[in-house]
Amino acid sequence: MTQNLLEPVLTPDGWELLNSLGPYSEADSLRLSSQLRDAGHSPEVVAAALTQSRLRAKAQAKFGPFAARMLFTPDGLEQATRLTVAARHAQRYVSAGLSRVADLGCGIGADSMALATLEREVTAVELDETTAAAATMNLLPWSNATVLNADACTVDLSEYDGVWLDPARRTVSSSGSKRLFDPEAFSPPLSFVEGLAETGMPLGVKLGPAIPHESVPENCEAQWVSVDGDVAEVVLWFNTLRRENVRRGALLIRADGAAELTSNTDFGHDDDAPLGPVEGYLYEPDGAIIRSGLVADVARQLDGHLIDPKIAYVCAPGLVETPFARAYRILEVLPYNVKALKSWVKANGIGVLDIKKRGTSVTPEELRKQLLAGSNRSGNKAVHKGMLVLTRIGEDRIAVVVDPV
Ligand SMILES: C[S@@+](CC[C@H](N)C(=O)[O-])C[C@H]1O[C@@H](n2cnc3c(N)ncnc32)[C@H](O)[C@@H]1O
Repeated sequence: MTQNLLEPVLTPDGWELLNSLGPYSEADSLRLSSQLRDAGHSPEVVAAALTQSRLRAKAQAKFGPFAARMLFTPDGLEQATRLTVAARHAQRYVSAGLSRVADLGCGIGADSMALATLEREVTAVELDETTAAAATMNLLPWSNATVLNADACTVDLSEYDGVWLDPARRTVSSSGSKRLFDPEAFSPPLSFVEGLAETGMPLGVKLGPAIPHESVPENCEAQWVSVDGDVAEVVLWFNTLRRENVRRGALLIRADGAAELTSNTDFGHDDDAPLGPVEGYLYEPDGAIIRSGLVADVARQLDGHLIDPKIAYVCAPGLVETPFARAYRILEVLPYNVKALKSWVKANGIGVLDIKKRGTSVTPEELRKQLLAGSNRSGNKAVHKGMLVLTRIGEDRIAVVVDPV
């Protein structure tokens, strides 16, 4: 099906039509489709051009203005690395002095675009023919990039001094595509990647951030990356792409810059984290910090402590500016008990309630409804905003009243 969606825009009429379309509007698409067919374009060309136009609009979030010149498949766009992150992957190859890079499973070519921009000689290998066609078009501006429609596992790598892999982590079946969590079910599988790393080839492999720490091979650096607070990926870096004295790290990318916390200790070193009471300020670490097991390191940086060894909240006596966690001022600590919380809502005239949680199975939406039921009936009372953090210390569930800082 994707074949038919891309081929018609690769004809002169289709290409010209696609590039003549204005900004995509879902509401206008039906009307525009019949208008274009009335103007003499074939239904296949119109459907394909409008699909690309819709995908280009969606792709702006990952590719900014470049999206307007690119081609996509729906899956290719969903799996593509956003350019700000791809640029950082590519920078590693530059820093390591690697100039000929094979991108094994290049998708629509986002990582290859970044590598080519940083003047690496890139061979982008893609098994799926339609996706390879999209990558070919996307990489056209770079004479130092070539696309190969082939199985990555069969490519002769003797000419390359670095490899990038972003294995497919979904299977597509008649019931749609679903995420895979077994690294051996990825394509290419993690064992292929590890085999390649064992030959000494400098390589980076992007995986889903939920990979269990036990599945992270011993001989690599694992770097979790979040973008605007959402954890996007973990990359395992092997051989000369691995930084000295870094076993794991959390790179936080935001519009105004990036911050990174690294550790040269192995996973599991959080076990000796300092523990203490719920008081002062509560800090909620970024997801990349949590995934990389660096919560205890953040606690130490803040002169703080964990409140429970298994819960990723940090408390500290003072307010410390940090890129690694969001801070909340602790106002009150209540037992988790609906009756007590309802009294608190009533006594404080709470009409708008934010609920965060960690380590409890409570559904915040349901609890919010329960707590606010009837709270706004008093008419002329001012409606206050409140925020609760539900968590536990051992088996004791607590509700912490906080104020975002
Ligand atoms: C997650 S996507 C890559 C996305 C890419 N890094 C980007 O940013 O656009 C993985 C791609 O690998 C391709 N693939 C899977 N197995 C492959 C293989 N054995 N050889 C070549 N490509 C393969 C899939 O078709 C898919 O397009």
